[in-house]
Amino acid sequence: MQNLSGKRVIITGGSQGLGLAMVESLAACGASVTAIGRDRAKLYAAEQAGATVIAGDATDATLMNSVVHEEMPDVLILNAGARLPMKPIDHQSWEEFSTIWNTDVKAGLVGIQAALNTPMKRGGRVLVMSSGAAMVLAVPYIAPETLRLSGGYIGAKRMLWFMAHSANAVSRERDLGIHFQVLVPCQLISGTALGHQAAAAYAAIEGITVDELVVRRYGSILRPAQIGEQVAELLGDPRYGNGVAYGFRHESDILPLDV
Ligand SMILES: NC(=O)c1ccc[n+]([C@@H]2O[C@H](COP(=O)([O-])OP(=O)(O)OC[C@H]3O[C@@H](n4cnc5c(N)ncnc54)[C@H](OP(=O)(O)O)[C@@H]3O)[C@@H](O)[C@H]2O)c1
Repeated sequence: MQNLSGKRVIITGGSQGLGLAMVESLAACGASVTAIGRDRAKLYAAEQAGATVIAGDATDATLMNSVVHEEMPDVLILNAGARLPMKPIDHQSWEEFSTIWNTDVKAGLVGIQAALNTPMKRGGRVLVMSSGAAMVLAVPYIAPETLRLSGGYIGAKRMLWFMAHSANAVSRERDLGIHFQVLVPCQLISGTALGHQAAAAYAAIEGITVDELVVRRYGSILRPAQIGEQVAELLGDPRYGNGVAYGFRHESDILPLDV
C-alpha cells in the first residue's frame, strides 16, 4: 500500500463509482480527501470512508476556485462525469449529444483553470479523467461500432486528454510546477452506474448479459477498486510522476500511454 499521509486530495464526482473507489483507496493510504458531488445524500459513502464532503457542482467555477483556494490540495482529481445517451445517432437530440461536453469538459476546463489561476502549490498534480473511448479510430483494437450509442462522449474524452497537454504548456510557460495527467480506463467498468448503463445497452442489442458483454469485449471484468488502488500507486510511485496519460485494464499493471 502507498503512503499518502500528508497529501491533500480533492476528487470531483467522489460520491460513487470510480470517484468513490479513489476516495476509499486514497483515504486508506492516509491522504486527506475531499469529495465533491451534487447530491448530498449520495456523498454518505465517501464520508464513511473518511472524506470531507462538499455538495456542489464541479462545473461551477466559483465553487471550484474557492475549494482549490481554501484547501490548497496536493492533488486535484477531475473525475465528475455525466451519463451517456445510449441511443443511435439518428435519435439523439443536441441536448443529449452534448451532455458530456456540458458536464465533463466544462468541469475539466473549470478545474484546470482553478488549478492554474489559484494557483495550486508547486509540485501539485491534476488528474483528468478520460476514457479508452478517446483512442477509438487511433488504435485498431477498438471497433468504432462498439461505441456507437455514446453521443459526444468520444470527442469529449479526447478533448479532456488534449486539455491536459494545453494545461502543462501553461504550467511550463508560467513556471508553476503543476503537472497535469490523464487517467484512461481502457474498458467499460460494469460496477459503476455509467459503465453498467452503457454495457447494458449493448448487451440488450446482442441478447447477452452485461457480464457476458464485458468478458466478450475485454476478456475480463475491471473493478472500480482496481482503479482506486492503481491511482494510489500512480500518486505514490515516482515512476509515474512525469508521464501525461496512463491506462487501466483488468489485471494489468498501469499502462503508460502518453509519456
Ligand atoms: N464507468 C466506466 O466504464 C468508465 C470508463 C471510462 C471512463 N469513465 C469516466 O470515469 C468518470 C467516473 O465515471 P463513473 O462510471 O464512476 O460514473 P458514475 O458512477 O455515473 O458517477 C459519476 C459521479 O460524478 C458526479 N457528478 C456528475 N456530474 C457532476 C457535476 N456536475 N458536479 C459534481 N459531480 C458530478 C456524480 O454525483 P452527482 O450526480 O451526485 O453529482 C457521481 O459521483 C467519468 O468521467 C467517466 O466518463 C468511466
